[in-house]
Amino acid sequence: MKIEFGREPDIEMWMNLVNKVKSSFPGLETKEALDEHRQTVLTFMRAASAICAKTEEQIVGALLFSREENMLCFLAVDEQYRRQHIAERMVLHMLSCMNPEKEVIVTTYREEVPEGIAARAFYKRLGFVEGELTEEFGAPVQEFILKR
Ligand SMILES: CC(C)(COP(=O)(O)OP(=O)(O)OC[C@H]1O[C@@H](n2cnc3c(N)ncnc32)[C@H](O)[C@@H]1OP(=O)(O)O)[C@@H](O)C(=O)NCCC(=O)NCCS
Repeated sequence: MKIEFGREPDIEMWMNLVNKVKSSFPGLETKEALDEHRQTVLTFMRAASAICAKTEEQIVGALLFSREENMLCFLAVDEQYRRQHIAERMVLHMLSCMNPEKEVIVTTYREEVPEGIAARAFYKRLGFVEGELTEEFGAPVQEFILKR
């Protein structure tokens, strides 16, 4: 399993993974939304802000982050490859590219949502602490913050 930057030639493999996990993400319900997301991923790839986990033939983990805002913007691992510390390895790769003095922010599901159990446990395990309750794509979410 390689953890590396996703590049434009990876876009089809990347979107295959997004298609498998899209039900976990508000805002990826329609074809139009997925087309827009594809353009967003390409923009992150060009900015060296897209990290993926790759086997010989597929992408099984994907992470997008903002260098300017020190923000984790998207994170998903293929269901068949979870609990193998793939997300953790991608986050460590991301942290090595970020300003080490600035806190890191991610927004994720609120506590009462069953889909959020894995993500919330994951972020807490990595040292993120709960922050403000906000909204994203009209859905209630919560910020998690990694203090430095
Ligand atoms: C959240 C997600 C990215 C975690 O990916 P992963 O590769 O399985 O996570 P890791 O293997 O790196 O987990 C590291 C640690 O986090 C914790 N953790 C991860 N998933 C967990 C779960 N389902 N329940 C409890 N703890 C969990 C554990 O402490 C784990 O270490 P351990 O397996 O040795 O106990 C993955 O479950 C996923 O893609 N979920 C759907 C999409 C999503 O929720 N994305 C985040 C939205 S912001």
